[in-house]
Amino acid sequence: MPIEIKNINNIEKFFHLYNKNISYMFYINKYFVPINIHFGKRAELQNIPDSMKYYNRPYTPCYREEDSEFTLETACMEYSLFGITDFRPPTLSISFENGSNVFELAYKKYEILHSKVNLKGLPSTFSKNDGEATTLIITLEERDKRLAVDLIYTIFEKHNVITRSALIKNTGIESFIIEEAMSFSIDLKGFGYDIINLAGAWGRERHVDRTRLYTGERNIGSVTGASSHIQSPFMAVCLEETNEKYGEAYGFGLLYSGNHKFTAYVGTSFSTRIVAGINNKNFSWILDKEESFQTPEAVLVYSENGLGGMSRTFHNFFREHLCRSLFADKIRPVLINNWEATYFDFNRDEIIEIAEQASNLGVELFVLDDGWFADRNADNCSLGDWYVNLTKLPGGLSSLANEINKMGMQFGIWVEPEMVSPTSNLYKEHSDWCLHSGYCNYLSRNQLVLDLSREDVQNYIIDKMSEVFLSANISYVKWDMNRYMTNVGSAALATKRQREVSHRYILGLYRILDILTQKFPYILFEGCAGGGGRFDPGFMHYMAQFWTSDDTDAWERCLIQYGTSFIFPPIFMGNHVSIVPNHQTNRITPIKTRANIALMGAFGYELDLRKLTAYELEEIKIQIDVYKEIRKLLLDGNYYRIGNPSLDNLFAWQIVSKDKNEIIAVIVQKMMIPNGPKYSIRLEDLKEDALYKEMKRDKGYTGSQLMYVGFDDMEFKVDFDSMLLHFKCIGEDVYE
Ligand code: GLA
Repeated sequence: MPIEIKNINNIEKFFHLYNKNISYMFYINKYFVPINIHFGKRAELQNIPDSMKYYNRPYTPCYREEDSEFTLETACMEYSLFGITDFRPPTLSISFENGSNVFELAYKKYEILHSKVNLKGLPSTFSKNDGEATTLIITLEERDKRLAVDLIYTIFEKHNVITRSALIKNTGIESFIIEEAMSFSIDLKGFGYDIINLAGAWGRERHVDRTRLYTGERNIGSVTGASSHIQSPFMAVCLEETNEKYGEAYGFGLLYSGNHKFTAYVGTSFSTRIVAGINNKNFSWILDKEESFQTPEAVLVYSENGLGGMSRTFHNFFREHLCRSLFADKIRPVLINNWEATYFDFNRDEIIEIAEQASNLGVELFVLDDGWFADRNADNCSLGDWYVNLTKLPGGLSSLANEINKMGMQFGIWVEPEMVSPTSNLYKEHSDWCLHSGYCNYLSRNQLVLDLSREDVQNYIIDKMSEVFLSANISYVKWDMNRYMTNVGSAALATKRQREVSHRYILGLYRILDILTQKFPYILFEGCAGGGGRFDPGFMHYMAQFWTSDDTDAWERCLIQYGTSFIFPPIFMGNHVSIVPNHQTNRITPIKTRANIALMGAFGYELDLRKLTAYELEEIKIQIDVYKEIRKLLLDGNYYRIGNPSLDNLFAWQIVSKDKNEIIAVIVQKMMIPNGPKYSIRLEDLKEDALYKEMKRDKGYTGSQLMYVGFDDMEFKVDFDSMLLHFKCIGEDVYE
């Protein structure tokens, strides 16, 4: 029974969601307000903690005239509102027809369900078996019954995770405008926490940013229409002393692929409020009577084992309870993608040549990137016109796919369905199908964004993509999206509803993804947006692979994959070995290192095999064999970061099988240091008294040696040198 409910007295009620490791506690106070007590390590209470008691404070507004001791200003709120004595960032803001935005919500009832509930129209985490998740729904009602809010909490038996969302219901007789509908808020006791976010840009996604918050507000988010390269929908909060391995950390992830916002706020109360949800910038929603509005789901993680523990909780939880693709727990094929090899400049014969060579090396999937359709020989045309270019590909996709299948490889294809080129036939026929607010169009990569808030546009995309996917034996689809949204508006929506368009776009996108991924369950879909511009937990519900970044430089990838691993499982990261000098940075790195770094995920190549030396081709053959040998471990294992590539000259990643019998580690040295240090790293999570053999060097080590004494059999010879280690347990209880 992972939810405990106790009556404190006639009015006040105590709720405790718990599993073996964590507790989430709140109570309903005498004014029917839900007040948070604790989120963190599993605890039991004998009484309501003293910190929850009310004291008269000068200059503080009282929640009730007759009670000078209670204010929301300092209370730890479960669901915060503005204008009713709490001055901190609210979770829900509403404008009523009389112009007022002030309202209270009071506890009405609760309900318990013995599973996770799916959210309508939005991605959500799920339970597979009875008993592995329990849901608590707390209903709050507005005094004049104009609205009610369901706070939806789920606790999972085996994960240190709480999911939260809110369902806002218009129960009155008038419409009202939702100005802000965040998914959750929580007040953590104390302040001076470190706030961690994943920041970046195209080509340098998800770099880790850590700052301390003593007072005021730290906001991160996106207003680009996509979850974006700029900030991921993620925030971590931890103590100053928390590091990779030790200390408490909270991680907050949002299942949303559009405009999001995370706020950390410290005011007068010496507590830190975290609020996250849809960004309120350019957002409002008219809720008519009897309608409801569902906020996206948030995943709240607690770790007592540092940031590494937080990441592993996200990884395991997302793999088991978020991604519903059949491929979530399948090994990923080694692929080759022709983008950096040919860009738009290819024909059937050239593709066949590259494919033949790839198949000889052991590649399992050929992905045909941009440029296969209409007149698409540059990025300034043809998006929207989804018919094959028969001049480039005589015989069409089907004949090419068959040819590639004959080589023993699967065939995959690139699409960018959400976009339209102004010169396309689609645009000529339906110029009102793109997002626009009647102002001028702002092109980005020469293209406009289709208005996915419209059902007719959604249906067009579903039909066109179904045609493409059925036109050949297609096993893989790279779903791209190559610009942010500007001038957001819809020709199909009433003037007063224009602020709804960004969210309606995402709901439309989710409808398309829902239908297509269910219609084509055997296709492995890869999410992409100019690289990793929409690598987010919302998309991950539908897709089991993401193009992590357009930046394929080995060193840049260290930083990007390091940050990405804070929340996303490595096996969801598409990583490709590319040519040097690298196309994004002009940097030269060894082919061994390019592969060692790419091996930590869904592995592939993106280069012209026809232009490589015999040595390079031989290396690639070996790399592919290595990947095939370790990929099951990469799929299931626990992931550890050792060191930090933006701070340290040497760092490593490690994957350990759940039974601790097999370990892969990659160690990378950034720069050669003359007369430099003798490096040593300590591996993690092994069996202390087992004997492990490093397979390539055929050398034995005890678990305790690798964990406590360290591994130092390493010698680096050039900048960006690296090594891959593969340990297997060959004996237990070596001390006896
Ligand atoms: C985006 C993707 C690339 C490639 C190009 C094609 O930039 O991230 O991998 O597919 O589009 O136009």
